[in-house]
Amino acid sequence: MGRRRRSGNSTQIQWFGALFLLLSLLHDHLIHSTPTNTTPQVYIVYLGRKYIKNNKNNNNKFIISKRHLHLLSNVFSSEEEAKQSMIYSYKHSFSGFSAMLNSSQVAALAKRKEVISLFKSKSVELHTTRSWDFMGLGLTTNEATTPLQLAYGENVIVGVIDSGIWPESKSFQEEPRMSPIPSTWKGKCVKGDMFNPEKACNNKLIGARYYLQGFESIYGSLNKSGNPEYRSARDFLGHGTHTASTTVGSIVEEASLLGLGLGTARGGAPRARLAVYKACWGKDYVGQCTEADVLAAFDDALHDGVHVISASIGASPPLPELFDSSNSIGSFHAMQLGVSVVFAAGNDGPDPGLVTNVEPWSICVAASSVDRMFSTDVIVQGNFSVTGESFITESITAKLVDPITYFTNGVCNLGYRKNTRSGAGRVILCFSTVGPVELGEAQEAALGINASALIFVQPFTTLSGPDVFPTVYLDIHQGTKIKHYLALFMRLPTLEIVTAKTIIGKSLAPKVAFFSSRGPSSISPDILKPDISAPGMNILAAWPRKTPPTVVPSSTYKVPVNWNIMSGTSMSCPHISAIVALLKSANPYWSPAVIKSALMTTAYTSTIGYNIVNKESMKVSDPFDIGAGHVDPMKAMDPGLVYDMKTIDYILFLCNLGYNQQQINALVHPSHDDDDDTTTLSCSQVRKSKANINYPSIAVSNLHSSITITRTVRNVGPSKFAVYFSSVVEPRGVEVVVWPRVLVFSWFREEITYYVTLLPRKKSRGIYDFGEIVWSDGVRRVRSPLVVCVNTITSLDHDDNDQLSDFITS
Ligand SMILES: *[C@@H]1O[C@H](CO)[C@@H](O)[C@H](O)[C@H]1NC(C)=O
Ligand SMILES: *[C@@H]1O[C@H](CO)[C@@H](O)[C@H](O)[C@H]1NC(C)=O
Ligand SMILES: *[C@@H]1O[C@H](CO)[C@@H](O)[C@H](O)[C@H]1NC(C)=O
Ligand SMILES: *[C@@H]1O[C@H](CO)[C@@H](O)[C@H](O)[C@H]1NC(C)=O
Repeated sequence: MGRRRRSGNSTQIQWFGALFLLLSLLHDHLIHSTPTNTTPQVYIVYLGRKYIKNNKNNNNKFIISKRHLHLLSNVFSSEEEAKQSMIYSYKHSFSGFSAMLNSSQVAALAKRKEVISLFKSKSVELHTTRSWDFMGLGLTTNEATTPLQLAYGENVIVGVIDSGIWPESKSFQEEPRMSPIPSTWKGKCVKGDMFNPEKACNNKLIGARYYLQGFESIYGSLNKSGNPEYRSARDFLGHGTHTASTTVGSIVEEASLLGLGLGTARGGAPRARLAVYKACWGKDYVGQCTEADVLAAFDDALHDGVHVISASIGASPPLPELFDSSNSIGSFHAMQLGVSVVFAAGNDGPDPGLVTNVEPWSICVAASSVDRMFSTDVIVQGNFSVTGESFITESITAKLVDPITYFTNGVCNLGYRKNTRSGAGRVILCFSTVGPVELGEAQEAALGINASALIFVQPFTTLSGPDVFPTVYLDIHQGTKIKHYLALFMRLPTLEIVTAKTIIGKSLAPKVAFFSSRGPSSISPDILKPDISAPGMNILAAWPRKTPPTVVPSSTYKVPVNWNIMSGTSMSCPHISAIVALLKSANPYWSPAVIKSALMTTAYTSTIGYNIVNKESMKVSDPFDIGAGHVDPMKAMDPGLVYDMKTIDYILFLCNLGYNQQQINALVHPSHDDDDDTTTLSCSQVRKSKANINYPSIAVSNLHSSITITRTVRNVGPSKFAVYFSSVVEPRGVEVVVWPRVLVFSWFREEITYYVTLLPRKKSRGIYDFGEIVWSDGVRRVRSPLVVCVNTITSLDHDDNDQLSDFITS
């Protein structure tokens, strides 16, 4: 199913289809530079960690800014000119700046040795009720209340980088009252258009900032008259309100979208505090975030003192190099400060290799379904009925018509329109396979003939949020039944579409969402991405009252809503952010790597009776779909063993990417708690196997002869004595030897290293196979997916150096 973004001739209805589930198309035609450009464009100049010799100096920020200006002045005729071109000076949490530069200035700055990377500020994309109960985090439970539920994320501050917030939503009220804001908090609520900090902020919503300079440098003024946006942290697009409430929303009863999905809405960490960083803006109803603004948001959030950052944004492939990305840079410095960063995997699935946000120091989240359906009966001529899904909230009775009446070859696309007949009072039956045609095109076509509704037939349902045009989604089997009836019937049959019903617990779940971006990582295939999967389909969460559920002023939903249903990895990301907040609340000293390890090694890949499947193909999912598996929040609280990562792991990773010692020193903070003095380690000392960073999963993208991989686990179980036994599922054609086979722990936080030898035992090239390594003490299962591509056949156009060359950049 081509859910690719559409070309420029799309109208609102076309892009809408993508906005909600793909949240992508947002801007492919935007800023593509020509190589020698004389007109200045926004560039980001990244200088690494904040480095000040005298840390006691109170004017640090001032000094860093001055340094930025000084560096920039080298390529301008005066400091005054340089000042004017500067957009942001990033100085709170790391060092760098963004500025308007022409090609010769870019070339001159790139040569400076203090510059780690210099890249154009690209656009990045904006990528509940049932979901928490579904994951076993119920609110009302008679079972003993677990520590996880008790905590609810108290004393954790979550920063959300997104499109802002609708502060009046009940999700962001103190319910019940919360304790005063900790004195260590440095953030603030910034005044702006329709945003009065005194009214908007409280002990729940404790920070609200907005970043517009990058946006306006690229797109011009945020034109208030022609554009329903707010020059403040107030959310127009709704995306930010939705994701924030999924993470930390207070408990609100009787939430629904016009009756759909009725239940108690809440975030996963309903007692955590929220700080909002608005870096994404609506422009003609489409979301736009620029990297210059996103990086400014990271810079402030880390300085303000957030504990977790949730950012449902990312660039679509092709991916830039690691330090040519605001998400990579921001999350790298977050990791060094002990702040977990959670990103969406992207909505470019189901084709392989398009996953985004692949750096090893952040968490990359895939999306899956929950066991909730919006079941819709379609009664044909009072005779028989079929069942599909829809968000139709008022029943529709109309005549069923074949698209051949209106469109050449029956292709439901305005381009194939063959006459001007009105389709008023008609329901049009469109097959995605005829044409083939995409949902947005079919909706536009149905709207174009003034039909009452569309029945859209697809191999797998793409229901993902309110439609701009009433649409029932049927699978091929059900759709074919109607098609046959239509062919037999002489007159036009009458069709009744019954209001959608919310049905819980009847559908097989979780399944991986078709749109969820798949691995392997296109820039570092030896780090498995995505890391983990969480609910991201048809998630109900808070919504700005002034914004229609379809964002565009639509015909289907006219009344204002407080809740809306959306789908995307944008929605699964805040689920993981919430669980990270809960883990952080219960274990304040866990590092971002330990938290990620706890999430990943306790994730599940099958539930009783069936494996997690791919929604579109019903085949068993693999680690490129779901990473380590589907998150299990309760198990993540008690992981038993964890894989921590230290400075040396990141140095190793950066060495393998080709960064030199000087650059690494500029990036990596000298470690405080590592045993070894990593600052003196050189790349030549640490360059071993690429797979040797202490990641909770193992991926080997090019196995041509035997290799041995090292992993170190720490006992974080309740008892200092623990014995873990290994068990292995070998990838096809790979012999796996784990040694030692038993790990005996005898003190708290003890660390033990084990080795995994992989021996290729087949002739193969380019095919991935999957296995796993599990350590168990009889109660806990500490599981790592094992992903191996055996390359024992040398192809003619490939030299054997590719093991090195696929990593070494310039
Ligand atoms: C770029 O700007 C600088 C300073 O304004 C100017 O001297 C230089 O000629 C410009 N280069 C190009 C290629 O326009
Ligand atoms: C604002 O947008 C309207 C049309 O949407 C346009 O006519 C007007 O010139 C714009 N104003 C500014 C200041 O950009
Ligand atoms: C129902 O459909 C069958 C053919 O499938 C037809 O014989 C019958 O008359 C139909 N009943 C009504 C009430 O239309
Ligand atoms: C659809 O309705 C609009 C507005 O009522 C009308 O202008 C247009 O001609 C109609 N289209 C068709 C195909 O009937």
